[in-house]
Order: sequence, then C-alpha cells, then structure tokens
Amino acid sequence: MRSSVLPSSDSAQAPAEPTASSPTASSPAADTLIADVAPLVTKSPLITPRRRATTVRLSDDPRLERPVAPALPTRLRPADLLRITDEGAEDVLDGRYDHLLPEGGILPAGERWSTRIHADDEVDVWLISWTPSKTTELHDHAGSLGALTVLSGALSELRWNGTELRARTLSAGDQASFPIGWVHEVMRAPAAIEPHTAEPTLSVHAYSPPLTAMSYYEVTGHGTLRRTRTVLTDEPEGDIR
Ligand SMILES: [Fe+2]
Repeated sequence: MRSSVLPSSDSAQAPAEPTASSPTASSPAADTLIADVAPLVTKSPLITPRRRATTVRLSDDPRLERPVAPALPTRLRPADLLRITDEGAEDVLDGRYDHLLPEGGILPAGERWSTRIHADDEVDVWLISWTPSKTTELHDHAGSLGALTVLSGALSELRWNGTELRARTLSAGDQASFPIGWVHEVMRAPAAIEPHTAEPTLSVHAYSPPLTAMSYYEVTGHGTLRRTRTVLTDEPEGDIR
C-alpha cells in the first residue's frame, strides 16, 4: 500500500511507506508536497501554546455563535420550580403538611397566611392562603426566580409588561413561573370569593435562590414604573394592602 501523500513510484528502492509525521520521500517534488502538507498535520515548534490559543477563531466553535444567556444565581430553571410547586401542591392535598396548618386546620379568614413547607440552599417552598379583598403591593422577587401552582380557588395577577399592567387569572390547577425582574401584584381572584366564600384560595410558591429581598414599585402618572423601596425579607409575595 502506498501513501496517498506521495506520488507513486515503481522503483524497487522505494523507501518504506511514509506517513504524514515521518516523511521519507526522496524526490524534490515529494519533499515540496510534504512540506506543504506537514503544517496541517503536525504541531509547529514555533507556535507556543499561548500563541496557538490566540489564533483560534471564535467562529470555529458553533456554541459561540449562539447568544450567551446571562449567568443566573441558581442552577434551577423555571421548569424545575414549576415541578417543585406541582409536587408541593400534591403533597399538601395528600395531607403531608397538615402538621404545619393552624390548629384545627382552620385558616385565618381575615388575613393572608403562609407557611414554609420546604427549605434548602437552593429553593424555599411556601403554602399560602389568600383572603378576600387583600392584594400584595406591586413587587418583584429581587434576585430570585419563582413559580406557583394554584391548589384551590383562584388568583388574579397584575403584571407590569414594560408599558402597562396586564391582568390574568390563575385558577385551581394553573401554574405560572416568573423570572428575575418579574414585577406583579397578586390577590385572591374575585371569582373565587363569590359564591364560595368559605373555600380558601391556596397556592404553593417556590423561589430560587431562596428569597432574601423584594423591591416595591408604583406606576407613575406618565406610565413608567418607579421603585419605591427595597426590603430584606424571606417572606413570600410581599406586603399586603
Ligand atoms: Fe410575587
């Protein structure tokens, strides 16, 4: 078998088959050909590792052609938090957290109530009971991602979309996630108040990293959002008014 690099020769004195890294060709033409090919298959001693690294074109790596996502302070993603709240809601319905409910399992009728049902370094999970006619102030969740699952009743959410507040209703079984920068206010949906006044609106919320702060906002008269204060807190879903 002859090398595909060298021109063929019928000479009985032909050298042993050359390889790209150990050429043994004798003809000038072959030397020239190998000299042209060799840099493609060997490492030049003239190129130091540092120099070689600087000659790599970024466009050679297809991964670098994609937009680079900003680094997040958690390895969890919205889909993870949705799953966590879904599993938390199922556990609540199964009675796994009955020991965390108020005595007798009776939730306060006049004020929002919450209990943390799970906490670790990456995520905290809360069960929240929402009462009629009370809404959170417009808030974000600082550096935390969030998600919720509605267990019973319904929630209304007003979310700032950059130019205005947009409303949506989340009914039992609905889920929502909110990335960093999500500004909203949340309340028990009016539809959940009538006619089932005795039925609580319950939701499970997850935050990652665990909540440590929230900012509050107001919509100005000329249609912008103004941050009014930031507070350190590990309580879910902001102050009530
Ligand atoms: Fe919130």
